[in-house]
Amino acid sequence: MMPRIVRTAAELRDVLAPRRADGVGFVPTMGALHEGHLSLLRTARNDNGTVVLSIFVNPTQFGEAADLDAYPRTEAADVALAAEVGVDVVFAPSVSEMYPTGFATTVTVGGAITGTLEGAERGRSHFDGVATVVAKLLLSVQPDRAYFGAKDAQQVVVVRSMVADLGIPVEIVTRPTSRDADGLARSSRNTRLSPADRALATAIPRGLRAAQDAFARGIRDPRLLTDAVRNELTAVDLDPEYVEIVDADSLEPIAEIERPALLALAVRVGQVRLIDNVALVPGVDDRIVLSPAERSHA
Ligand code: PAF
Repeated sequence: MMPRIVRTAAELRDVLAPRRADGVGFVPTMGALHEGHLSLLRTARNDNGTVVLSIFVNPTQFGEAADLDAYPRTEAADVALAAEVGVDVVFAPSVSEMYPTGFATTVTVGGAITGTLEGAERGRSHFDGVATVVAKLLLSVQPDRAYFGAKDAQQVVVVRSMVADLGIPVEIVTRPTSRDADGLARSSRNTRLSPADRALATAIPRGLRAAQDAFARGIRDPRLLTDAVRNELTAVDLDPEYVEIVDADSLEPIAEIERPALLALAVRVGQVRLIDNVALVPGVDDRIVLSPAERSHA
């Protein structure tokens, strides 16, 4: 069945009012749905009586106007995919519905978690944009559970922190990063990669996998592990914005991996800025699976 498409928060409240008893699951997205989103939606479908998908390309979290303009907008195709995975309601508000004239509130999550990685590179205002829109979406949908992909690991930490600080009554559920056969993390931005750049981008999962292999061999020095990633990237002339290992919860730098850590990177491939990460957890071997072609390339 096709989902009901809703454009305003007032209509959303009316539509959801009689459907709350069996639980509401919510997957916030900026559209251009890919398998990663669909996996979140399937999990939400499994866990809840009603599934809400939001599609809103949030202007306040983009630093560069060009990136915002180039962001793919494919609502009709997204709604068709949403129907296939059993979404009940698609909330697709306009910019003026989300940010009416006079809108003057910003939700800022302070501290190290927004100052590092993406926050250092894109500026904290990126996470102001994310926290503000996610807070507003959560208040509009009032879900029991909201689902986020681990590819945006820092976003998950920021959202969890905001939800805890503001006492928003929702369970935040994270699902593993969804990857293509060559290991590249699925992202709406991948559609903007030329075939040649798409091939270059496979150095990202190869680099992460090289670090995971070294970690599995017992290497715990972040410098050696990030070098393993950098070597794969620089071998194909990719110059990363950052490759860092931080504590998985506080996102603070660490001298040696003794507890769960996050290895995260950002790199521009052609016109497209890509991010990726893996968890490095002592005692846990959760390596990225690379296709045979990628393994032999390594
Ligand atoms: O991850 C995203 O797609 C966005 O950051 C989100 C959570 C939908 C907020 O705009």
